[in-house]
Amino acid sequence: MSKILDDVSRTFSEFLLIPQLTKQEHIPRHVSLRSPVAKFKEDSQPRLSLNIPIVSAAMQAIACPRLAIALAMHGGISTIHCSQSPQSQAEMIRTTKKYKAGFVKSSANISYSGNLGEVRRIVAQTGRKTVAVTADGSSNGLLQGLIFAGDIWPGEPDGKPVSELMVSMDKIKTATVGISLDKAIILLRACNQKCIPIVYENGHLDSLVFRRDAFSLNEFPLQMLDGEGSLMVSAAINTHDYIERVPCLLHEKVDFIFFDSSDGYSEFQKRGFDWIRKQYGPDIIIGGGNVVSAEGFNYLVRECDADFVKVGIGGGSICITREQKGIGRGQASALIDVVNARNKYLSETGIYIPICSDGGLANDTQIIIALAMGADFVMMGRYFASLEESASIKYNIRGKTYKAYWGEGSSRAKHWQRYSDSLQEKNITQFEEGVDAYVPYYGWLHEVLPITIAKLKSTMVSCGAITLQTFSKEAVMTTISQQTFIEGGTSNVLLKDEP
Ligand code: IMP
Repeated sequence: MSKILDDVSRTFSEFLLIPQLTKQEHIPRHVSLRSPVAKFKEDSQPRLSLNIPIVSAAMQAIACPRLAIALAMHGGISTIHCSQSPQSQAEMIRTTKKYKAGFVKSSANISYSGNLGEVRRIVAQTGRKTVAVTADGSSNGLLQGLIFAGDIWPGEPDGKPVSELMVSMDKIKTATVGISLDKAIILLRACNQKCIPIVYENGHLDSLVFRRDAFSLNEFPLQMLDGEGSLMVSAAINTHDYIERVPCLLHEKVDFIFFDSSDGYSEFQKRGFDWIRKQYGPDIIIGGGNVVSAEGFNYLVRECDADFVKVGIGGGSICITREQKGIGRGQASALIDVVNARNKYLSETGIYIPICSDGGLANDTQIIIALAMGADFVMMGRYFASLEESASIKYNIRGKTYKAYWGEGSSRAKHWQRYSDSLQEKNITQFEEGVDAYVPYYGWLHEVLPITIAKLKSTMVSCGAITLQTFSKEAVMTTISQQTFIEGGTSNVLLKDEP
């Protein structure tokens, strides 16, 4: 006879945290949200930690270098989806890593033989006020001078040559490629220019460091930087083409990879782990998942050597896996079971395995509950889909702005598979596990994420914790009744504005 578990499958919205003593030193400013990503020995430092416990989902509707850059600047990490060729996935990693905060590729360029009319057109098209003059008019050509649009007198004729408009190189202080941002900014201050061109030894232009960016960089103290000063980014892999895909990703120095699967409790995943470990050894950070039980966790950790484990089946906002296949588990129950298995493993071996709670987080409160329950970090799709920086486009529907958001298991997402015959497995296309939808547009990441972080810190303080580790260790929670849930929102009042 089949086995029926005693516990009911629960979701995050069924729990509330009970406040604990807030001591004087418990203030949001003192809260650290650092959280490990890869397994580590209890008495040593984690190999990789996030500065905020948030990663974006590996989905076509979301992942792109623009989001990856924005999230890494704020202390999280984006994951780049594998629903594309290994080459284009690697290209996204490269673009993200190439972005050097503060080092701006010149997008307004003109050749030395140009004139003011062309400068005016370039300024209008690009919105830039600094135009680089290079020998061939390209962004990486031999630098010959700079034109500052704000310094051009009105009424100058369009035919005026560039040579008479530009500030020539003998009057411009430059720095050589390889200089750190800190040093470039010190130089910029010393020479008091509007920007400092970063050039190769042969005089070709690499980038520009602007005064205004030097100021704004102070706003990103939590940036996730690798050993070479590039932003960190992660990539999803699958159990079909890792032999081709993993080398491409590692070539671009991806910071960690993980198997992206709705059901990771499988020998296919073990085969993938074994191959990668054999080829590249234990240093590569590889996550496994998704699982929803202690058995799944133990398999991925004890048999497959996973560095972290991703939890969640069927909870995603665009997910219909439970409906279509009858598999899954309430995200809170799944997480509790896996966290208990993790803690047991820790007490047996002294090795801590980080856990990622993936999908189904409908609001900021649920992020907080997931972390209180022992998730080390959360992965979100809908949250990021609704932001300006996500990969999908905006729509105006009846006066309101939305962004497209579709599941990786939807037929829309599966179109990419046309590129590879080897992935045209019959069962992949017979039914869908995700839907094609819209989400309300919420704005830019830098407007939305700080609010989430502020709420998290405020709750931690109420629960007497200033680190995520103490937060989950000391958290006291209660399950809530239907009526408590209803009263959690506003009650018996007529709202003036929609929340
Ligand atoms: P969300 O944050 O609730 O939108 O969930 C995002 C998560 O849903 C992803 O990180 C995936 O684990 C999962 N997911 C993505 N696409 C699908 C799908 O088509 N079906 C089921 N789950 C999906």
